[in-house]
Amino acid sequence: MSSVLACRALTRSFPTPTGPLEVLRGVDLDIEAGSIAAILGPSGTGKTTLLHLLAGLDTPTSGQVWWGDLAAHAHAPRDLALERAGRVGLVFQDPHLLPEISALDNVTLPGRIRGHVDLNRGHALLDAVGLADRATAHPATLSGGERQRVAVARALYADPPLLLADEPTGSLDRATARTVFTLLVSLARGQGRAVVMVTHDEGLVEDVDQRYDLTAGVLDARA
Ligand SMILES: Nc1ncnc2c1ncn2[C@@H]1O[C@H](COP(=O)(O)OP(=O)(O)OP(=O)(O)O)[C@@H](O)[C@H]1O
Ligand SMILES: [Mg+2]
Repeated sequence: MSSVLACRALTRSFPTPTGPLEVLRGVDLDIEAGSIAAILGPSGTGKTTLLHLLAGLDTPTSGQVWWGDLAAHAHAPRDLALERAGRVGLVFQDPHLLPEISALDNVTLPGRIRGHVDLNRGHALLDAVGLADRATAHPATLSGGERQRVAVARALYADPPLLLADEPTGSLDRATARTVFTLLVSLARGQGRAVVMVTHDEGLVEDVDQRYDLTAGVLDARA
């Protein structure tokens, strides 16, 4: 089996007036192709910090992040943009849709940035997230759950082998959160994509392959 994502001895500390705040103290993780992992931990434990490092949006204080055989830790975040676009789909707590364009145009935005828009793929993805009939709708006319489903479709547009999600259901009510969570996991599973999802909401996490707790800056696998 091949790891689509791995990190080794990852640390991240932030300077503060009272000295460095050591948020991550040596995180090791291996995510195999098609595998779905949840990282759990209460607020402030470093989940977002870790996800940003795994996404190559931040540079570790020390340690390594590998996207397959690409050493992401060896590159500045801005230099990883092109590789990231093809390899890593990102979903955040807020959907971050562009308000002035339609749901379909938001889904195909990664294609527009790369110079080729596949409208058929955009429609197929909207269909997959249950929004086939809302292609022309603008974000302001969609519900929070619908907006987040558009964000999931957009994350899948470039066909990435890996999805990284940071509290993707954190801004939704319970029932909608469960719908979006189940959709994200089942879509990824059906398409053979790996997922790393961080959340503080343990009750939401089901049907995943691995669970980890982020505690005191290290990751512990649940039995
Ligand atoms: N750029 C920064 N500078 C200084 N401290 C930071 C910075 N980013 C994060 N921190 C601190 O690192 C710790 C972990 O933050 P992080 O956002 O990773 O937590 P989290 O587990 O995602 O929390 P939540 O569940 O609330 O989203 C916090 O104490 C936070 O204040
Ligand atoms: Mg966070």
